[in-house]
Amino acid sequence: MKSSRFRVAALAAALLAVTQVHPALAAPGDPGEPRYSAGASSLDDPYFPDQGNGGYDVQDYDVTFAYDPATKIMNATTVITALATQDMDQFNLDFQGPEITSLKVGKHPADFTRSGQELVVTPRPKVKSGQTFTVTVSYEGTPPVITDPDGSIEGWVPTDDGVFVPGEPQGAPSWMPVNDSPADKATFTFRATVPEGITVVGNGRLLSQTTEDAKTTFVWRSAEPMATYLATVTLGNFVVTESTTPSGIPVYTAVDPRLVTQSATAVARIPDILEYFSTIFGPYPFNQAGAIIDRAPNVGYALESQTKPIFSSAPSVSTMAHELAHQWYGDSVTLSKWSDIWLNEGFATYATWLWTEHSGGATAQATFNSSSNYGRAATSSFWQILLADPGPEDMFSNIPYNRGAMTLHALRGKIGDTAFFKLIKDWAADHQYGNATTADFIKAAEKISGQNLTSFFDVWLFQKGKPTTW
Ligand code: ARG
Ligand code: ZN
Repeated sequence: MKSSRFRVAALAAALLAVTQVHPALAAPGDPGEPRYSAGASSLDDPYFPDQGNGGYDVQDYDVTFAYDPATKIMNATTVITALATQDMDQFNLDFQGPEITSLKVGKHPADFTRSGQELVVTPRPKVKSGQTFTVTVSYEGTPPVITDPDGSIEGWVPTDDGVFVPGEPQGAPSWMPVNDSPADKATFTFRATVPEGITVVGNGRLLSQTTEDAKTTFVWRSAEPMATYLATVTLGNFVVTESTTPSGIPVYTAVDPRLVTQSATAVARIPDILEYFSTIFGPYPFNQAGAIIDRAPNVGYALESQTKPIFSSAPSVSTMAHELAHQWYGDSVTLSKWSDIWLNEGFATYATWLWTEHSGGATAQATFNSSSNYGRAATSSFWQILLADPGPEDMFSNIPYNRGAMTLHALRGKIGDTAFFKLIKDWAADHQYGNATTADFIKAAEKISGQNLTSFFDVWLFQKGKPTTW
């Protein structure tokens, strides 16, 4: 799903297409032949060149699956509804999952080939620009664990009582065919059937939970657009608690029974954190909030899965605050390319500094000054990674987090509190459910502050080394 401007362009192209002369009647050598071509197999993100595909824009994913933790076998059918943005005789999806047993475009079985994460589909009939079409993919087997450039794991990660399902930056294709680009957001429905006693927690709202013949089916719906890397269907033994914040946001928490005591403090602060962030960032962007606290020791990190951040162990209050802040910065406003990861991690880290100060801990200024931040010696290797382009191995290192947060704190000092807090609130509002870039942020900061910030951002983002003046 892209901006409405994009959709208007696609419609205009479709209208043009119908007024064109039918190819069979076209004069020999008529330009524009052949009309149909293959959608691009990549969106050329240098960090993950296999990610994303061109030629269409996904509107909705409907993922139905049965899974048994005992056999680790998934039996799934995913229906993708997409809008074609060009006339296509071939297109790609990103998929690393198990064996495909059937694939249809619309009602018609389609030929396909697989290589790495590219699933290449040949639709017959071909797909016209402006057409909304469906792709129905059925598959069966065990989804793989994906290893990232930094060595961490994601995708479909079995735990001792279920599966932990993180997807950043490239885990979603492990278990569903997707257009795996952060820039192609869509709505999602998950319909998951598991042995009775297991809980499946997906993004968005729980529409229904029904048990029949010792199996329970959970239907989760993410009604707001979501990037594929933020999808989860984490499942296992969970203690579920449902509540509502003072301002009316429903909160669904699922906690591994072994972690209930250790997680209690962080879980109890969810409403306070959401209320505080709503005052400084603007209204909470989704119709559901919550958290999934699981035991996945081999994962070892938390992730801001939309509406349901997932934690691989009992979180601290500040980790909880970090993942909740991402709901505004990362999930609702999402980067467009991975080199801009500081827009996600720097914002969430700075939000945690603000929360810490708000809740009676160190001031943001003190955190900025500390030895994990600006207090690091200028000779430290910490300063030798470029914030604007840390590279895939270091995209989740402390550079995007700490130098990113320092950049925001320094910007606040430079433009003043009024402009700074207006900037971050407007950033969340102006790009809600969309995508944005570092260039967009610089432009917004200059506009709101009325200052030329070229040298400020140059020193903090585009140059290595410890900034000394800005
Ligand atoms: N975005 C997550 C967070 O900051 C971290 C994800 C780490 N993923 C990874 N593959 N290393 O909360
Ligand atoms: Zn983060």
